[in-house]
Amino acid sequence: MIHPVILSGGSGSRLWPMSRAGYPKQFLPLHGQGETTMLQDTVKRASGEGFADPLLVCNEAHRFIIAEQMRQIGITPSDILLEPVGRNTAPAVAAAALRLSEHGPEALMLVMPSDHVILNEPAFRQAVSRAAVAAAEGALVTFGITPTAPETGYGYIQQGRAWGREAEGIHEVERFVEKPDQETARQYLESGDYVWNSGIFLFQAGAYLQALEQFQPEILAAVRKAVTHSTQDMTFCRLDSEAFSESPSDSIDYAVMEHTDQAAVVPVDMGWNDLGAWSSLWEIEARDEQGNATKGDVLLHDTRNSYVHSTHAMVALAGVEDVIVVATDDAVLVADRRKAQDVKKIVDRLKVEG
Ligand code: GDD
Ligand code: MG
Repeated sequence: MIHPVILSGGSGSRLWPMSRAGYPKQFLPLHGQGETTMLQDTVKRASGEGFADPLLVCNEAHRFIIAEQMRQIGITPSDILLEPVGRNTAPAVAAAALRLSEHGPEALMLVMPSDHVILNEPAFRQAVSRAAVAAAEGALVTFGITPTAPETGYGYIQQGRAWGREAEGIHEVERFVEKPDQETARQYLESGDYVWNSGIFLFQAGAYLQALEQFQPEILAAVRKAVTHSTQDMTFCRLDSEAFSESPSDSIDYAVMEHTDQAAVVPVDMGWNDLGAWSSLWEIEARDEQGNATKGDVLLHDTRNSYVHSTHAMVALAGVEDVIVVATDDAVLVADRRKAQDVKKIVDRLKVEG
């Protein structure tokens, strides 16, 4: 049995104005023409045969959104852990591992970000069952994506020898480098030796806790205290605020994956996309003959290679190319499609200027 652990703590500022601090991107139906949200898609992707009920870890401010979205898809989480403050992914995963240790240290946990698109679900599931072989032997298994650009926002994994004799499609990890600089990323891409870290992990709860003990004892101690002193509030488990706040803030990638020699990687081609910015949506959505992807009430004339998304108002474009237009109830974004990352700068200004 695999226990899905879903991390839902990010704010997704580059997907403003739809993604807001109070209602971040994972709670929105951004991808496709359907109405299921990225969080719901993530939970459904790892449900059914072989999977236990999911455990979710999120900020307490989002608890009712999460509970409601799970109700909508008829899934009852085994646990919803509430963080009083964000301490990044290493402590969030630690809290989940401590809870799941109730099933024994061998309990397998599949850690998944809540804000990714995976187009090929059978490939995903196949990779997970492949990974389970190494995870059962104590490995911290990552899932590797063939890189297509020198992205600096990802972890890079250098694949080593085959894992064991029997296990096909699993490799030891020679090196894990989180978010390298541009020049290093370019070298990794050119070498052909590296894959991107997808941000999905499979390991035994005990194996992760052991790694934390070795590399980040302060995180483990604080989170252990926060779990021991947690309080149950309806279906929510509130981590003790004082103890959890004491944990250093760090990501699983920097805190554990860069240090461990127990890592393995399963390379997988599953139509993975980290929906980081509006330009990623343009890339993965179905486009018309002029290269436009639209959602909502949109009218286009003489427009090419653009992404247009409207939640209510009717939006019309004429004579433009390579633009992003996103219209919500109270804000409209117009951007050059190739500068979609700059939306974060607008959000930063909004925070300062109000
Ligand atoms: N519960 C909880 N608490 N979740 C969190 C927290 C937190 O404090 N911080 C982040 N998360 C969630 C985010 O919502 C997201 O779903 C996931 O954890 C990963 O966090 P990101 O902040 O999006 O990480 P990243 O994109 O910079 O890097 C990670 O993902 C890349 C692939 O998308 C790393 O694992 C990279 O190595 C990887 O390449
Ligand atoms: Mg991310």
